[in-house]
Amino acid sequence: MATKDLPAVEDGAPSKLPIKSIPGSYGIPFISPIRDRLDFYYFQGQDAYFQSRVDKYGSTVVRLNVPPGPFMASSPKVVAVLDAKSFQVLFDVSKVEKKNVFTGTYMPSTSLTGGFRVCSYLDPSEPTHAKVKQLLFNLLASRKSHVIPAFRTNFATLFKTMETQIDADGKADFNKLNDDTSFEFIGEAYFGVRPSASGLGTTGPTKATKWLFLQLAPLTSLGLPKIVEEVFLHTFPLPPCIAKSDYKALYEYFSTAAEPLLDAAVTLGLSKEEACHNLLFATVFNSYGGMKVMLPGILRWLAVADSNLHARLAQEIRSAVAAEGGKATLAAVEKMELTKSVVYEALRMDPPVKFQYGKAKKDLIIEGHDAAYEVKKGEMLFGYQPIATRDQRVFANAGEFVADRFVGEEGKKLLKYVVWSNGPETESPSVLNKQCAGKELVVLLGRLLLVELFLRYDTFTAEVGTDLLGIQVNFTSLTKPSTSS
Ligand code: HEM
Repeated sequence: MATKDLPAVEDGAPSKLPIKSIPGSYGIPFISPIRDRLDFYYFQGQDAYFQSRVDKYGSTVVRLNVPPGPFMASSPKVVAVLDAKSFQVLFDVSKVEKKNVFTGTYMPSTSLTGGFRVCSYLDPSEPTHAKVKQLLFNLLASRKSHVIPAFRTNFATLFKTMETQIDADGKADFNKLNDDTSFEFIGEAYFGVRPSASGLGTTGPTKATKWLFLQLAPLTSLGLPKIVEEVFLHTFPLPPCIAKSDYKALYEYFSTAAEPLLDAAVTLGLSKEEACHNLLFATVFNSYGGMKVMLPGILRWLAVADSNLHARLAQEIRSAVAAEGGKATLAAVEKMELTKSVVYEALRMDPPVKFQYGKAKKDLIIEGHDAAYEVKKGEMLFGYQPIATRDQRVFANAGEFVADRFVGEEGKKLLKYVVWSNGPETESPSVLNKQCAGKELVVLLGRLLLVELFLRYDTFTAEVGTDLLGIQVNFTSLTKPSTSS
């Protein structure tokens, strides 16, 4: 690759690194994006799809096509940023526009969200972004004290159900139980109204999953014959009307359960209707969709870890809770260094949201570890997070799950490279950025899962596989403490 003379970086400071042109290829229009899509879903798989291109071009900043491609997306062409340093450009909203890029190069119909472009699709320069994000911050702050009690009661029931299922059948499907439990938990924690006690009954998780699927279908593979998936999932959007009645039922729950918050939304300058569609999206897509993927993703690493880690976690969690008079308070959880580290490490190894996008707002220089790259205004930047967060230049044994990685002062210094929330773990979401509004809550939920698990059991075994959105975990044993009452 040829290096060029050092130009001034557009935002002032000149890059000290040599400027290289970005290698890679988009291939033959229409044909190559489809061929690439087949590689991505079927012939290579996600990780190998990106890693093989990094290897081929000897660069972690590379031009490539992303799925779904034709006809779903107007253009599949992106500049991929696949190391911990260049990835950071995606968090700088002065450099990248985050308008309509939440799901990537295609955007689901707004008829799935009441005709509104909800917060996740808004750039911070759009005035509605700050209003909706503030509404969500207000919701989470006002319900803070309800999170731990609601989590513990709902997940205590989940674990009891798993025990019964293991006794009867030898195993328990965590994902299925988690779907039902997380949906109940979120409704109770956010709005004080259990969805199962509303008109939704027990249908909420199924309705929610159907609606989520319509939005994410272009990025999934169900294991059906390729030709069927290509036509029905990856080439044309599924008609939104498939989930119309499901969405209506979900909306009714929110318009009743969240009534006081919707009244307050008006003072922020939002209509009740826009606020309600946004609350539904943040609760069902962001929160429920996130928990569906994240909790099995954390358990997966514990299932394959040796039982010594289970013993250390149980010891840490039980003594911190005992020191708080037997209560799993926020202060107790804050003291659980290993537990916290395990959750961060799981989020590093398996970020629940793997793709991030942003369009260059201006001509830019992106800095990688050894070189800088010029990008033109309007080009789409894309990050595949699992490769960026397994960057050997930042993390020792980057491809391995190291439970203690973030313990202690040295460990904490690495937290800025944990970026599951669309921003460094050391920074906070605000109305001015695009970092996940639920960041603090999300890490707390990961920790609470471990707390509940290891307060109840010394160790467990589970089978780990894959499912539509991520990891499938089936528990096969739960071992209670021998001294337990
Ligand atoms: C944005 C991840 C849970 C609310 C995001 C983004 C990611 C993310 C990666 C940025 C997407 C992008 O623009 O590229 C997750 C994960 C979660 C989770 C993995 C759970 C495990 C939550 C929860 C809330 C939430 C509980 C509750 C309010 C939001 C909102 C945005 C967002 C509103 C858009 C932020 C903005 O427009 O500035 N989330 N999230 N998320 N998340 Fe989360």
